[in-house]
Amino acid sequence: MTTSTDNSQFIAFFGATGGCTNACLTHTLQAGFQATALARTPSKLTNMLLEQGLSQAVIDSQLTIIKGDIANIAAIKAVLTKNTFGTDHVQVASQIISGVGGTPVLNKSVTKPVTIDNPEICAQATRNIVQALTEIKAHDRPSITVISTTGVSDVKEDVPFWFRFLYHYMLADPHVDKKEMERIVTENSSSTGVFRGSVIIRPSLLVSDQNIKKGKGWKKLRVGTEENPAIGYTVGRQDVGEWIFEQVIKTGGESHFGQRVTITN
Ligand SMILES: NC(=O)c1ccc[n+]([C@@H]2O[C@H](COP(=O)([O-])OP(=O)(O)OC[C@H]3O[C@@H](n4cnc5c(N)ncnc54)[C@H](OP(=O)(O)O)[C@@H]3O)[C@@H](O)[C@H]2O)c1
Repeated sequence: MTTSTDNSQFIAFFGATGGCTNACLTHTLQAGFQATALARTPSKLTNMLLEQGLSQAVIDSQLTIIKGDIANIAAIKAVLTKNTFGTDHVQVASQIISGVGGTPVLNKSVTKPVTIDNPEICAQATRNIVQALTEIKAHDRPSITVISTTGVSDVKEDVPFWFRFLYHYMLADPHVDKKEMERIVTENSSSTGVFRGSVIIRPSLLVSDQNIKKGKGWKKLRVGTEENPAIGYTVGRQDVGEWIFEQVIKTGGESHFGQRVTITN
C-alpha cells in the first residue's frame, strides 16, 4: 500500500451525531471541505445535517459516511482513508476530529452517582484510531482534535468554585476515561507518533445543542490554555464546534498543537 498527498484532502470525523462535532462538521461542509464520518446510524447523521440546512446534494458530493461502531477497526480505517487512484494508492485524512462519548447514567450510589454506559469509550475510540493508523502504515500523518472536559487538569484548577463538587466528585468516574484519552493522544503525538500534532479541547459544562443558527458565535467565547485556563460554567455545543472549525480545521490547527484548550462562555 502506498500513500500520497494531493489537493483532495479530507477531514475524518468520529462522533458526528454528537452536538459539538455535528456543528463542526456542518461548518466544514458549508465551507466546501471534503469529509468522511463514522456513524452507527447513518440516517441519523444525514437527518441532523439536513436539519442544519445543508442540502442533500452537498452531503452527497462532500461527505462519505461509513456505517460502523468505534470498536470496528476496519470501519475506522475506511473513515481514515480514501482510495483516490486505485486500490494500492491510499490517501489518509489530513485531520481527525473526535467527539465520541458515552451516555451518562445516574445511579443511586453515594460513591459513584454518575457513571457512563460505556465507561472506557473515549480511551477505546482513541486507542482504536491509533491502531487503525498504525495498520494503514501511512506516510502522511494526520492531526487529531479530541473533545475532553474541564476538571481533569493536574496543573491548574479550571472549574469554577460552585461546580467543583459536581466535577471532582460526581463526575470523577467519567473523567478517568477522559484523562486516559488525553494520555493516549499525547503519547502518540510525538515526532514518531501516528499523529503529526494534537489539540485537546476542554469545554466547560456543555449546554444547548448542535443547531448552528442558535449559537452565540465562536468569537464571543473565552479561551485559555492548561496553564492559564478560561474558567466558566457553561458553553454551547454549537459554539464549541464552530471554534474547532475556525481555529483548527480552517487554519490547520498548528498554532494550538500540544495545547489543552479550555473553552467557556
Ligand atoms: N456533557 C457535558 O457537559 C460535557 C462537558 C465536557 C465534555 N463532554 C464530552 O464532550 C464530548 C462531546 O459531547 P457532545 O454532547 O457534543 O456529544 P455526545 O452527545 O456525547 O455524542 C457522543 C457521540 O459519540 C458517538 N458514539 C458513542 N458510542 C459510540 C460507539 N460505540 N461507536 C461509534 N460512535 C459512538 C455517538 O453516536 P450515536 O449517535 O450513535 O450515539 C455520538 O455521535 C463527549 O465525549 C462528552 O463526554 C461533555
